[in-house]
Amino acid sequence: MSARVALVGAGQVTRLVAPRLRDRGHELVAVIGRGAAVGRDVGELAGLNPVGIAVRGDLAGALAETRPDVVLMSTASTLAATESALVACITAGAHVISAGEELLAPWASDPARAESIDALARAHGVSVLASGHVDALWVHLPLALTGIVTRLDRLEGTCTRPFAAARSSNAGVAALLGRPAADYPVEHDDAPGSGAAFSSLQAIARGLGLTVTGARATLGPAVREGDAVALLPHGERAIPAGTIAGSARTVELETAEGIALVLHDLARIGDHSTEHWRVTGTPDVELRASATQGLVSTATQMIARIDTALAASPGLHTLSDLPPLRFSPAG
Ligand SMILES: NC(=O)c1ccc[n+]([C@@H]2O[C@H](COP(=O)([O-])OP(=O)(O)OC[C@H]3O[C@@H](n4cnc5c(N)ncnc54)[C@H](OP(=O)(O)O)[C@@H]3O)[C@@H](O)[C@H]2O)c1
Repeated sequence: MSARVALVGAGQVTRLVAPRLRDRGHELVAVIGRGAAVGRDVGELAGLNPVGIAVRGDLAGALAETRPDVVLMSTASTLAATESALVACITAGAHVISAGEELLAPWASDPARAESIDALARAHGVSVLASGHVDALWVHLPLALTGIVTRLDRLEGTCTRPFAAARSSNAGVAALLGRPAADYPVEHDDAPGSGAAFSSLQAIARGLGLTVTGARATLGPAVREGDAVALLPHGERAIPAGTIAGSARTVELETAEGIALVLHDLARIGDHSTEHWRVTGTPDVELRASATQGLVSTATQMIARIDTALAASPGLHTLSDLPPLRFSPAG
């Protein structure tokens, strides 16, 4: 179904979404950002020809004027950081598809905010959900693999993606690129509460009907065996073998059913997006996938979810409660 779409956030994801909306029959009606992006044509921001839509800085005004059916939001990762923009979109009567990872399983990270966003969305008759690269590749695909087994002991994924040095939230690690690994000490966290790996595993646990009883995480440097070069906003930086090339996070969930859910999330300069999922059970199952450009697959899956958002019941959704994505030749 064709929708009028507004984009909130004028960063990397939005620049990939904007030129692809028309491919699926949707109309781009507004782009809302902040800072230096405001006033710039979104086509030019995406490195293409101008499309006649300048980035605006006034979210409420842009929503009132353009009345989008759906907002695709790619600003920040948590409910707390996106709450005010979510409220503005919901009260303007727009369905929301967020790239924010915490919204994959919002009750697992921030139940109070999840309750309040859910109630507001129900009151305004709109749906709020998350999508992005992780949608098919970190949640629905591993869930489908578990359908093969009659006994499940462990589901474990190793997922690599290019380190997004230009993303503002990665500035801290970007400053360490090429430095000795010891400059990025490994942190252990016995109560992780957010992040792409944590939220994806929580969505998987919910999809499997498992009760999560504990969580652990480690975060440290990702290194490369060979030399690499990082293209940073201020120029190139050499990344010698064995130095910091990004970050590696492992999250493990324990469940009352004794099934372990583990995800190793490696964001590393020079990597492609690859997913390697292993199911230990009866029988063992293994699957490797690759969507070479992870950020493009974030844009395309957010666009593909527009039909889901239009059809879903009002309220805030956990991703695993929604149907898996399918290509549709129509639209
Ligand atoms: N679900 C997935 O599979 C998936 C995949 C990729 C990315 N993501 C997530 O999607 C988000 C966007 O990624 P990206 O690569 O597009 O990041 P990005 O290039 O840094 O773009 C984010 C943009 O949003 C702006 N922004 C941040 N907070 C804002 C706010 N409160 N109001 C208005 N604008 C705001 C930023 O402005 P400033 O530059 O001024 O901060 C920036 O222009 C990140 O949280 C990322 O982790 C999710």
